[in-house]
Amino acid sequence: MSIDVRTPAERDAILADPGFGRHVTDHMVVADWSSTGGWTVPRVTPYGPLTLQPSAAVLHYSQEIFEGLKAYRHADGGIHLFRPERNARRFAASARMLALPELAEQDFLDAVAALLRADHAWVPDGTGERSLYLRPFTVATEPFLGVRAAAEATFAVIGGPAGAYFPGGVTGIGLWVSTEHSRAAPGGTGAAKCGGNYAAGLAAQAEAKARGCDQVLFLDATEHRWLEEAGTMNVVVVTADGTLATPPLGTILDGVTRHSVLTLAPEHGLVPVERPIAIDEVLRGCADGSVTEVFAVGTAAVVTPVTSLVHAGVTTTVGDGAPGPHALAIREHLTDIQYGRAADVHGWMRRVV
Ligand code: COI
Repeated sequence: MSIDVRTPAERDAILADPGFGRHVTDHMVVADWSSTGGWTVPRVTPYGPLTLQPSAAVLHYSQEIFEGLKAYRHADGGIHLFRPERNARRFAASARMLALPELAEQDFLDAVAALLRADHAWVPDGTGERSLYLRPFTVATEPFLGVRAAAEATFAVIGGPAGAYFPGGVTGIGLWVSTEHSRAAPGGTGAAKCGGNYAAGLAAQAEAKARGCDQVLFLDATEHRWLEEAGTMNVVVVTADGTLATPPLGTILDGVTRHSVLTLAPEHGLVPVERPIAIDEVLRGCADGSVTEVFAVGTAAVVTPVTSLVHAGVTTTVGDGAPGPHALAIREHLTDIQYGRAADVHGWMRRVV
């Protein structure tokens, strides 16, 4: 990943086809914390390496949390965040779960806004569903090898222009349902957005790829029966009797897109329901027509139709194997709000620039 300052022409070439997670902007925001001094004032600096001691706690015990949110350029040139307060609140909750220092929600929002102001030229226009993906994170930096909550940490915000997370996403993805791997257990860190949760899912994710699927779908750790979440996104199921069902919170991420889709569901004639969903109900429902759609939702994934599920070596087609109408309509509805093409009746958008 380049850290040289790019010329405007180089930046425009990147913005034309950013991919996801390949490029970073010119700056970052950094603040340091110690148990004795608290937080320093966040500073905007050129993007560059962080200096860590080899004994820094994060390198040994994964004491780390992060967030993901997007900035959208509207037709008038203004740059808006989507429900950033929810990211700020979740970041603080993740900090508590990982015994990291909490950043005040307003300080989180101010740091994100400071990076956006410094790097506003990196926010693509809204065509092709491009945006600027922002990645706030906190790492435990105290150099020591004992196991305890670190007394020093660094918070930073970096960002990069983003296109679709799944290049073929709106045409549908396949999920491999793992009956062996678990992402999270009751009482664990499943609800935290922490690096360790994702690291623990990487072997399963690699297996999903090896089996020809785009991502893994995790089941609960106890019975390997109840849907949890996919590798990088929440999942929802649409039933023929008009519900939009999604697994309840607890061991899964409290996704901002998940919450937004539940809120939008009634506007699409669907009753939103948070309830345990058994994998056999989904597979049987796909076969007998009582489940009509499955889709994945997340900041990176937006709303991505799931068109096949592979479970115990058997492939089940969802619906007729094409993206379902509710997935497409809700995706369009959500992105129209995010890009300012539809009225923001829920008061979700925050203009920053
Ligand atoms: C997001 O959707 O923001 C995520 O964090 C998913 C992934 C890129 C880790």
